[in-house]
Amino acid sequence: MNAPSPALHMREPTVRAPEHVRNIARYLPGKPIPELARELGLEERSIIKLASNENPRGPSLAVRAAIAAATEELCRYPDGDGFSLKAAISARYRIAPEALVLGNGSNDILELVTQAFLLPGQRTVYSRHAFAVYPLATQARGGIGIEVAAQADLGHDLEAMRHAITADTRIVFVANPNNPTGTWLRPEAVAAFLESVPGEVLVVLDEAYNEYLAPEQHAPSSAWVTRHPNLIVSRTFSKAYGLAALRVGYGIMHPGVADMLNRVRQPFNVNALAQAAAVAALADRDYVDESRALNRQGMAQLEQGLRALGLTWVPSHANFVLVRVGDGAGVYQRLLRQGVIVRPVANYGLPEHLRITIGLPEENARFLAALAVALRA
Ligand SMILES: Cc1ncc(COP(=O)(O)O)c(C=O)c1O
Repeated sequence: MNAPSPALHMREPTVRAPEHVRNIARYLPGKPIPELARELGLEERSIIKLASNENPRGPSLAVRAAIAAATEELCRYPDGDGFSLKAAISARYRIAPEALVLGNGSNDILELVTQAFLLPGQRTVYSRHAFAVYPLATQARGGIGIEVAAQADLGHDLEAMRHAITADTRIVFVANPNNPTGTWLRPEAVAAFLESVPGEVLVVLDEAYNEYLAPEQHAPSSAWVTRHPNLIVSRTFSKAYGLAALRVGYGIMHPGVADMLNRVRQPFNVNALAQAAAVAALADRDYVDESRALNRQGMAQLEQGLRALGLTWVPSHANFVLVRVGDGAGVYQRLLRQGVIVRPVANYGLPEHLRITIGLPEENARFLAALAVALRA
């Protein structure tokens, strides 16, 4: 038997966190492969994980080489202002470096916005079934999150979100595409929404899955920032760029807003390997195009398999798909027993669904075969 954890021998704390912290339900990440391997006594290699919307190809060879080169300077602190990465993003998207804030993942940007702009008791607005970090970041500041009912297709209802804005509202979160639904809002709809939101309310437009959209679907969101100084666009290198482990993302915003986020962030919030990798990843445009193409094929493969199993899903614009399986928790467990990790989404108010990340063709095939077994049980 394992030795008891040293923590068990500690005295009970008398310190008490504030109520708004005690009320937080922790973020539930996808189950790590090593954890399932330990639990089932399986080889890690025999397990597939389609649970965290990562790029199954990982980073490109050029990016791996850039990371290896950056390890030569591991004794040095990273560039706290991220000069090279900001210059690369600036050149690629024609955005002034002062309008950029780098984050330890785009999650960091979401947190920094609430840290800089939300006081206890003030409100944020977001959609039902929207990314779980919006309520978490709100609660961590003692804010009040207003969840707005979604459309019938589970996507954001922007009109209802606009109506949910009150004098106490400081931030509205819009995910496009949204996780876990994969729903997407047309640029015209987002543009009209931005026009309707009062200038004192920040709009965070979370574009974590932007690179998976077809080029003609891309919104001119960085240009919108010029017109709407209350807009923050967040993006990440965790998804299509294949760098989830390194934690790097960025926000595009008015330099005055960026200044506020820079005041509250950690001085070295993006590590040196992440910065070097992200610079190389931005330069490797073919890799992202290939990843998008592979994703499209994988989506078609999954949709075909799901149709054959008689299942329905929410049409997705990202690198995952939300599938209605009935007993989400049960099917999830039966997939785990076959070494397949997907994402249960009961915590998103979707107990009958599972979220499946598009994998490599062989992973998608293995998932579909395991799903057929799991549904029969
Ligand atoms: C909609 C959305 N936004 C933001 C993130 C945060 O990703 P990261 O912190 O890795 O950039 C995720 C990750 O799953 C996401 O789905």
